[in-house]
Amino acid sequence: MNLVPHAAQAKENLNPDAHPAPALSAAQRSNLSPVTAWGYAWWRARSLALLGARGFTLEREAVLFTALCRPAAGQVWLDVGTSAGFYAGVLARAGARVTAADLSPAMLAVAARREPDPAISWVNLNVEASGLPDASFDGVTVGATLNETHDPARLLADLERLLRPGGQLWLMYLRRTAGPAQNLLARPALGGLTCPDPAWVARQLPGCVRTDGLGVGAVQFDRFVRSDRTL
Ligand SMILES: C[S@@+](CC[C@H](N)C(=O)[O-])C[C@H]1O[C@@H](n2cnc3c(N)ncnc32)[C@H](O)[C@@H]1O
Repeated sequence: MNLVPHAAQAKENLNPDAHPAPALSAAQRSNLSPVTAWGYAWWRARSLALLGARGFTLEREAVLFTALCRPAAGQVWLDVGTSAGFYAGVLARAGARVTAADLSPAMLAVAARREPDPAISWVNLNVEASGLPDASFDGVTVGATLNETHDPARLLADLERLLRPGGQLWLMYLRRTAGPAQNLLARPALGGLTCPDPAWVARQLPGCVRTDGLGVGAVQFDRFVRSDRTL
């Protein structure tokens, strides 16, 4: 005999700590393919210029990031959706210790070959359901991974949680232009990409202050710092 009424039983079965992983977008699924991983570094080196940030090479992106965020020896950083390891490599060369996370084992294998630095730990992890401890990073880099998730608000909230007070969040993403290409790529079957507005992004990070924001073509770079007060 079941003594627990059905509705109450359903509530009892809810695990408040459970954090189910969200469904993957088509763009996220495409990155699981070894073929995508094989070609990704080639695309990444050209992608910003093709997306309207003319002349914006990876070297310039690294200089911009390093000048604004000043990653330093002894700091602990998380690179979210590392792909071929671009930000992880920049951080490791600055002396930081890096957790480089990606959903895709194929991407991680490519990245580990390209950036064989012992300061980088390659981790196969869905950062939207990471379970990583609060305030565990001095900095977080997110190079375009924000565009791939179904739920950018959830991702941003979790990244804010992972920053220690004073910690930095660096975002590079395609911002909303409402152009025809973005509208097409937003369709679930064609990628399910989300291109957020920078003001919307800032509103998802109530515990952070945006210190820098730069739009180049459709590409947006933002730096946030987590404020000292408790969230
Ligand atoms: C646009 S690429 C990132 C490029 C890379 N950050 C860079 O700056 O060169 C997106 C990457 O994020 C990964 N990714 C997407 N959603 C993720 C998630 N929720 N958790 C971890 N990795 C994710 C994908 O597998 C893919 O490798």
